[in-house]
Amino acid sequence: MPCTVIVGGFFGDEGKGKIASYLAIKDKLDLAVRTGSVNAGHTVAWKNRKYKLRIIPSAFIHEKCRLLIGAGANLNVSIFLKEVKETNSEKRVGIDFQTSIIEEKHIKEDRGDEHLSKKIGTTGQGVGPAIAERVRRKAKLARDIEELKPYLTDVALEVNQALNLGKKVLIEGTQGTYLSLYHGTYPYVTGRDTTASAICSEVGIGPKKVDDVLIVFKAYVTRVGAGPLPNELSPEEADKRGWTEIATVTGRRRRVAPFNFQLAKRAIMINSATQIALTKLDIVYPECKGARSYNELSPKAKKFIEEIESKLKVPVTLIGTGEEVHDIIDLRMEKLEK
Ligand code: IMP
Ligand code: MG
Repeated sequence: MPCTVIVGGFFGDEGKGKIASYLAIKDKLDLAVRTGSVNAGHTVAWKNRKYKLRIIPSAFIHEKCRLLIGAGANLNVSIFLKEVKETNSEKRVGIDFQTSIIEEKHIKEDRGDEHLSKKIGTTGQGVGPAIAERVRRKAKLARDIEELKPYLTDVALEVNQALNLGKKVLIEGTQGTYLSLYHGTYPYVTGRDTTASAICSEVGIGPKKVDDVLIVFKAYVTRVGAGPLPNELSPEEADKRGWTEIATVTGRRRRVAPFNFQLAKRAIMINSATQIALTKLDIVYPECKGARSYNELSPKAKKFIEEIESKLKVPVTLIGTGEEVHDIIDLRMEKLEK
């Protein structure tokens, strides 16, 4: 803080939604910006409810937080309106004038195209074709849509002004480093660069405005759709370990592999990460479930965290130990000299 960028370190689904929502409440964020699009589902478990957000920032649980969607994002109007209702955020949500729009034809194209739907295994949400249309300079933008008029704003200006006033801003990235169009496992990637610099660019802030890049790693690696996954476990082995997950947006079974130090190291380099948030530690070490202080962790779990810090040379400042927003060990005060 005051300006933190959250980025996924593997193939998405690292638990960014949980981390963003915790920071919103804990740090009393003033403003949060969502990037990317509706192909990414962020899960937030809050007050006995589970939200599966695809466009509204996960920081919505802090009721004073202004919620924005960046110019580089791609919006599906009906999903946006549904989530505004669900999160009761009507009065505090804003969309950049230039956010581009996913239309029905893009969804059809995504699902009907053999290469995209079969070979790459896209989420079928129309995001790639909508971005392609934008590149052809024929896309509809938020400013062209009547229903969005009440929400339109200049996101770059709002964010930069907030930062100049010393307000607390969170930039929520989506997906993960290895799904990046530039740095991922091409062609098995998404339609945009998912790394920290691109996240800032989608919002309209320069690199000098960022104080912290918080990279989120899950305690194991998952991937949905096609493409390489080093040391992939068989579905039986994943089940046996209790690491099997079902994708938020598509309902597909996620492929699973153990934590990958090599991928993590490179992701830290590409994103210039300053802190690590490690999620789902309790899935790998069930005895740690619900722990809220480091001392409650088992020796094995502590050893894993020490190994991460010694190999990756970045402090693990947040550790997720359960689904609920407050199931977290927050070591920022101890580990960061500020
Ligand atoms: P697209 O983004 O729908 O074009 O899909 C391209 C690839 O990225 C596919 O392998 C998807 O499964 C994957 N993908 C896209 N968004 C996410 C996400 O939020 N989490 C995990 N995988 C994703
Ligand atoms: Mg997800």
